[in-house]
Amino acid sequence: MSRPPLSEDLLRLLRELPDMDEELYIESMTRPLPETFRVNTLKLPEETIIGFLAERGWEVEKLPWARHGYRVVRCEREDPGATLPHLLGLIYIQGPMSMVPVEALDPRPGEKVLDLCAAPGSKSTQIAQLMENIGVLVANDASSERIKPLISNLQRWGAMNCVVTLKDGRYFGKRMRETFDRVLCDVPCSSLGIVMKDWAAARDYSSGMTERVRALQLSLLLSAYDASVPGGRIVYSTCTIHPLENEWVVTELLRRRDDAMVLRFEPEGLRTRRPLEEWRGMRFDPEVTKCFKCYPYDNAAEGFFVALIRKGEGR
Ligand SMILES: C[S@@+](CC[C@H](N)C(=O)[O-])C[C@H]1O[C@@H](n2cnc3c(N)ncnc32)[C@H](O)[C@@H]1O
Repeated sequence: MSRPPLSEDLLRLLRELPDMDEELYIESMTRPLPETFRVNTLKLPEETIIGFLAERGWEVEKLPWARHGYRVVRCEREDPGATLPHLLGLIYIQGPMSMVPVEALDPRPGEKVLDLCAAPGSKSTQIAQLMENIGVLVANDASSERIKPLISNLQRWGAMNCVVTLKDGRYFGKRMRETFDRVLCDVPCSSLGIVMKDWAAARDYSSGMTERVRALQLSLLLSAYDASVPGGRIVYSTCTIHPLENEWVVTELLRRRDDAMVLRFEPEGLRTRRPLEEWRGMRFDPEVTKCFKCYPYDNAAEGFFVALIRKGEGR
């Protein structure tokens, strides 16, 4: 296979990261992601769906870090997304690391939950499932184009407790303060952890992109934080490896909201690496070392960063 294209800025970034193995990162770009999915327990019991898949010739393996998550060992056809179980909404094809943020959020039935950047809905469907369709999930996105697949995915999944909104996520922290028990803030990012899905992200990456997006990421996280009730949980996640979109954003939240606490979260069966405490002469808050971080070659999957944050109870 040919060597994937990497922009000059990405090559420079890889060399500047003290814990990065450049060759392994580039090699990971040529390895397809494992096919993984969640079983829809809103529709049928898990064993019934697994039995139905087995009858159709599927062989699957449980993922230890995600309730209802599985890896495809053998499938009835090459593309699991083009099968009847998928079209019926009995399964949802979702990347293995993409299931981690909602496991950290751990939504419960009866709660009020906000998914601030929800389209196309992988994590909203996972939230509705863990809520057992009880309580209220507000699934928001700012893109009118991406709202369409969000709605159809929620419908196919049978999520009944959702309100879909088309708003800039910064609205919620201002107009719906202290409203939600849990808030997921899965922000737009440079996508440098999922370059195996799309080489263009590596070819077109520029450091200017990170400069632009990190201000938006921080304002979305502040909005998520302000929309949470005192004592609520907020999860911040990205699919990038860039410290300015990860460690820096969480450090800034801790600086600007002095009752914010980072909680440790260790998903079972995954290799995680210690977030950086300093980089390019910048010092990050030592609390960021409690976050989950992995590079694409750590688990033969996507690179992801997940911060689990608890809002103080107030004084
Ligand atoms: C990483 S994707 C979210 C993926 C989604 N959580 C999932 O699991 O399917 C980031 C999303 O943020 C949305 N977005 C970008 N700017 C936004 C803003 N200011 N407010 C809310 N959403 C925004 C994008 O349209 C995009 O759908």
